[in-house]
Amino acid sequence: MIRDKGCGELRESDIGSNLSLAGWVFRRRDHGGLIFIDLRDRSGLCQIVFSPDIAGDSHTNAHDLRAEYVIAVSGEIRKRPEGTENPNLPTGAVEMYVNKLEVLNEAAPLPYNMEEAADAGEALRLKHRYLDLRRPEMQQNLTMRHKITKVTRDYLDERGFLEIETPMLTKSTPEGARDYLVPSRLNPGHFYALPQSPQLFKQILMVSGLEKYFQIVKCFRDEDLRADRQPEFTQIDLEMSFADREDVISLIEEMMKKLFKDILSFDIETPFQRLSFHESMERFGNDKPDLRFGLELKDMADLALKGTFKVFLDAINDRGMVKAINGKGMAGLSRKEIDLLTQEAQSFGAKGLAWIKIKNGFDSPIAKFFPEDVLKKMAERLEAAEGDMMLFIADKPKVTYDVLSRLRLELGKKLNLIKSGYKFAWITDFPLLEWDDEEGRFQAMHHPFTSPMNEDIEKMLSLNLSDPELFTVHRSLFTDIKAKAYDIVLNGHEIGGGSIRIHRQDVQKRMFDVLNISEEEAKMKFGFLLDALQYGAPPHGGIALGLDRLVMIMVGATSIRDVIAFPKTQKAVCLMSGAPSTVEPKQLRELYIKTDVPIE
Ligand code: AMO
Ligand code: AMP
Repeated sequence: MIRDKGCGELRESDIGSNLSLAGWVFRRRDHGGLIFIDLRDRSGLCQIVFSPDIAGDSHTNAHDLRAEYVIAVSGEIRKRPEGTENPNLPTGAVEMYVNKLEVLNEAAPLPYNMEEAADAGEALRLKHRYLDLRRPEMQQNLTMRHKITKVTRDYLDERGFLEIETPMLTKSTPEGARDYLVPSRLNPGHFYALPQSPQLFKQILMVSGLEKYFQIVKCFRDEDLRADRQPEFTQIDLEMSFADREDVISLIEEMMKKLFKDILSFDIETPFQRLSFHESMERFGNDKPDLRFGLELKDMADLALKGTFKVFLDAINDRGMVKAINGKGMAGLSRKEIDLLTQEAQSFGAKGLAWIKIKNGFDSPIAKFFPEDVLKKMAERLEAAEGDMMLFIADKPKVTYDVLSRLRLELGKKLNLIKSGYKFAWITDFPLLEWDDEEGRFQAMHHPFTSPMNEDIEKMLSLNLSDPELFTVHRSLFTDIKAKAYDIVLNGHEIGGGSIRIHRQDVQKRMFDVLNISEEEAKMKFGFLLDALQYGAPPHGGIALGLDRLVMIMVGATSIRDVIAFPKTQKAVCLMSGAPSTVEPKQLRELYIKTDVPIE
């Protein structure tokens, strides 16, 4: 046996025993005759001491130990002398006096100092991920991730869910991102798509009578990356038959309750707050509101119309809106600081940022455009008082919402308004469709298998789609149709989304018509699901949670890269393995693939 227990497991009860330990050399300090080493393994750190009086050879050899050498030691566990205990370490009351040292492996000089790893720069850490993952923080993150999946598996198993794998080499799934394609050697010119989600397969499992499915599964999406997005990420994916929205919602609420209790010993309140998509947009400017602080958006169009500020009036006339938030306590900002804030708003897409300070009256270059009582009403609506600054955006709805929601988050952080804790919400009543200006047609807001609300199904079926003006003139007929879709939001992140699906063929067909997907195209893309739906599909629905995002929030990380063992950069590159890379010309020839890019 190389070791008797973990370095981090030594306790006062071990005093007097002779034990063996193994691990990595973390720090070495030479003190007079004694050499102290912090020895580290997954369980934690402990102090080992080399004394010339106890084992001369080991003491001499200890001089040669360098950072990250792997060693095995044995010796007596002693109580640390009075005053040298380390109360910050669970092992801080004891130390081992080494009488035998074995170097199990040496380590090359390190690319960066492990103790300052957090400052080493992420690129360097990702390149040497094997070292980065040795850090206690990273090991803790991965341990938590393991626990979260374990609790999830057990929870779903107890409720009768079966874990069923679905293919990775498959057909394109309509989740809205670009596919990662894999060429088929045996079928030249044909490609598999890596799944953006198991959506079609899990619905087919419901048609097959499996009733309750789940999978902790990798999904692949070729999209622009952000702090909470990776090209390959993991979903806790599930689907249930004979279930409605409330069944899915309560299943997930109970699951969250259990996860937060078992893993963080934190009691979360259920049921979660619910907001309609519309309400969420109006109050927070997005559909994943951070509810840990206020600074809500307020509509100012009616008051703007009582003034003569051209920017506001023009925006309203141009089918836009005027909305504002309260910059709490920001009336002291200098012109320069306001300019910076304006630039920030512009970087989010705004044309400008209008402001009115409340500082001995209304202080602003635009105050003159409004009667005093209107300014007062503005302040009242924003609950703005002396010392605050009202911030306005006037633009098309999309820009106004987007800029103000981002500004709200920035200010929330800057003004330290974001409370600790966990604020969950369900966002419901999503529109079924959204208009895509570029493509000149509707897109499914979730995916094309999402069911409309019962009351909207008949409406959708009764629309005369051959009316040439239907999509242009009566577009609102469609935007009013709501979906049986729901997103779960935690602290400003969308951590999951799902819906009740369409299980009727006539409704599914109508959905494709509205989306301008021809029968032929539908057959080609999802023919197998449509075929399956003919043979007695039960009503069904489900959800997928973004595991990486959930873990990120639960461990308190700011990037999902910190909770994924081998993540990719913003450019979808793995700095450690070097993927993606060019391949041998022979490999391409076998696949009948020619690239325009010169192969190195
Ligand atoms: P959706 O596309 O909303 O739904 O995905 C579900 C959840 O997965 C997470 N997620 C991501 N996490 C990290 N990186 C990404 N690139 C990424 N993309 C998505 C989010 C999101 O809420 N098939 C449907 C689910 C269903 O309808 O049942 C689906 O995939 O947390
Ligand atoms: P201007 O009349 O362009 O000098 O703008 C007067 C103020 O209105 C400045 O503070 C601008 O930043 C601001 N502003 C300009 N365009 C907008 C807009 N679309 N929304 C809000 N404020 C704006």
